[in-house]
Amino acid sequence: MKHTNPTRTEAWKKLEEHYTALRELGLKEEFRNDPERAEAFTLEWEDFYVDFSKNLITRETQSLLQELASETGLKEAIGSYFGGEQINRTEGRAVLHTALRETKDAHVEVDGENVTSEVFEVKEKIKTFSNDVIEGSKKGYTGKAFTDVVNIGIGGSDLGPVMVTEALEYYKNHLKVHFVSNVDGDHVQEVIKDLNPETTLFIIVSKSFSTQETLSNSTTIRSWFRKKAPAESVAKHFVAVSSNVPAVEEFGIETENIFPMWDWVGGRFSLWSAVGLSISLSVGYDNFESLLTGARKMDEHFRETPFKENIPVQLALLTVWYNNFFKAETQAIIPYTQYLHRFPAYLQQAIMESNGKGVDRDGNKVDYQTGNIVWGEPGTNSQHAFFQLIHQGTKLIPADFIGFKRSLHNEKDHHNKLMANFFAQTEALLAGKSSNEVRQELESKKMSEQEIEKLLPFKVFEGNKPTTTILINELTPESLGKLIALYEHQIFVQGVIWNVYSYDQWGVELGKQLASKILNEIEENDVQEHDSSTKKMLKFFLK
Ligand code: F6P
Repeated sequence: MKHTNPTRTEAWKKLEEHYTALRELGLKEEFRNDPERAEAFTLEWEDFYVDFSKNLITRETQSLLQELASETGLKEAIGSYFGGEQINRTEGRAVLHTALRETKDAHVEVDGENVTSEVFEVKEKIKTFSNDVIEGSKKGYTGKAFTDVVNIGIGGSDLGPVMVTEALEYYKNHLKVHFVSNVDGDHVQEVIKDLNPETTLFIIVSKSFSTQETLSNSTTIRSWFRKKAPAESVAKHFVAVSSNVPAVEEFGIETENIFPMWDWVGGRFSLWSAVGLSISLSVGYDNFESLLTGARKMDEHFRETPFKENIPVQLALLTVWYNNFFKAETQAIIPYTQYLHRFPAYLQQAIMESNGKGVDRDGNKVDYQTGNIVWGEPGTNSQHAFFQLIHQGTKLIPADFIGFKRSLHNEKDHHNKLMANFFAQTEALLAGKSSNEVRQELESKKMSEQEIEKLLPFKVFEGNKPTTTILINELTPESLGKLIALYEHQIFVQGVIWNVYSYDQWGVELGKQLASKILNEIEENDVQEHDSSTKKMLKFFLK
C-alpha cells in the first residue's frame, strides 16, 4: 500500500480547482443540458441498478476522482487486500473476510498457507450444527428440541448478525433468534425473562473472548441457566464463536462446541464467518451460503471491473468528493424496506470504526478530513422524521436511497406507494421548488397577494441536494450479500485514498481502560482523582 497524502497529489489539486469552478453547479440545468446524463451515471450489474446521476458531479469530476484513485494506488491496494498482505499494519494482520466467501477451489494465502480448507471445515461445522438444531435432532438437556437462540456479543459480534437476521426475516424458520449486546443488565433480563432454559441455545460470540459486555452477559445468563438446569447441561446449551480457545474453555464450554475464527477477519467484517451462526440458524444454511455467494459476486465485480464501471469505487469516490471538497460531514443511508431497519446502525460501525482515523499510514496527524458520519432510518418513516432538514436545512447531506423492485409479500398496493415515495424524494431533493412554482401554487388556491408574500419563502425548496439510488430486484440472501460487500469495499477505497489504516480500532480502547478503573472505584465506593466534573458526578452517583 502506498503512503500518499491525497492532498499532495496532482489529482487533488485539479479537484480543488474543479470544485471552485463547479460548486454552484445546478443539477436541474445539468439534466436539462445533457440528455445523456442519467445514462452516463448509471451502472447496471446483475440485479443492481445504481444511479448516481443526481450527484453534484460532471463527467470531469468523475474522471478526476478516478485519477485520484489511481494516484493513491488503488489498483495495487486491491491486489494487496485480496492477496492477503498484512494491510492491517498496526495489528500485523491480513484483512481477508473476502476469503470466507470464496469457492472451494480458491487459493488464499495467509502467511504462506492456503486457508480455504480451514474455512470450509468451519463452514461444514456451521452447516451440520444449523441443520441439527433446525431439524430438532440436536436437543436440550430434557430431550426437547430448541425453539430459541440467543446470540451474546457486541459490536461486530452483534451488529452484523442482528442486521442480517432482521433483513432476512422473510426467509426465517421456526427458531426465534434473540440478541443480547449491551452490558445494561436490563437488556439481558428483558431477553431472558420469557425464555425456557430447556429449549434455548446460547451462542457466545467474541473474537477476543475478553470483551467486558459479552463476558458479563454470558456469566449472568449461565447463572440464570444453572439455577434451572443441572451443571452438565451447560455443554448442551452453550456454544461459542471465538479465536481465543483457551479463554472459551476456561468459561466452561466444550472444545467441540467452539467455532473458530481467525485474526485475519476483523470483527465488523465477520458476519460471513461462524459469527454468522445465528444467521444460519435463523434462515437455514443454504440461505447463509447464498448470502456468501452474493458477497463473492460483489468481490469479483470490485476486483475485476475498471474504476469507471465499478460500483464500490464510484460510490466511494463520491463520498470523498463530498467529504473533502464540499466539506459535508455526514451521509444518510435510507433503505426503503423495513427489513433493512438495522442497516444504517450496522454501517455506522463498519464505516465509522474503520475510517474514523486522524493519523495517516506514517503516523502523522492528517490535515484533511477522513471518515464521515453515517446515519439513517428506513423510508418512509424517515420522511416523517428528519427529511425536513435534508430538504430545507442548512447542511449538505448526500443520501443513499436503497430500494427494491419487488416486495416480498407481494403487497402491490403498498409497494407502489412505498416506491412512489422512494422516487419522489430523490426527485424532490434534486428539483426543489422555485418561488415561481410556489407562487403559482398559492395563486391557484386563491390566496391574496399579501398572504402569498408572507408564506412564499417558507415554501421554497432550493433542491440541488445530492442522492444516489441503489435499486435492486428483490431482497434475497444473495442480493443482501452483494449490498453489504458493496459497502465493505467502499470502506476499503475510502481508506486507501485517505491514507489511513481502516482495519484497526485503537480509538475504542481508552474508554474501556477508564471504565475498568472507574468500575473499581464504584465497587469500592472510593472515588479517586479525576477532572472535577467526573469526580462530582461519581460522588453524586454513589451517594
Ligand atoms: O468495539 C470494539 C470491538 O473490538 C469491535 O471491533 C468488535 O467488533 C467488538 O469490540 C467486539 O469484540 P469481540 O468480538 O472480541 O468481543
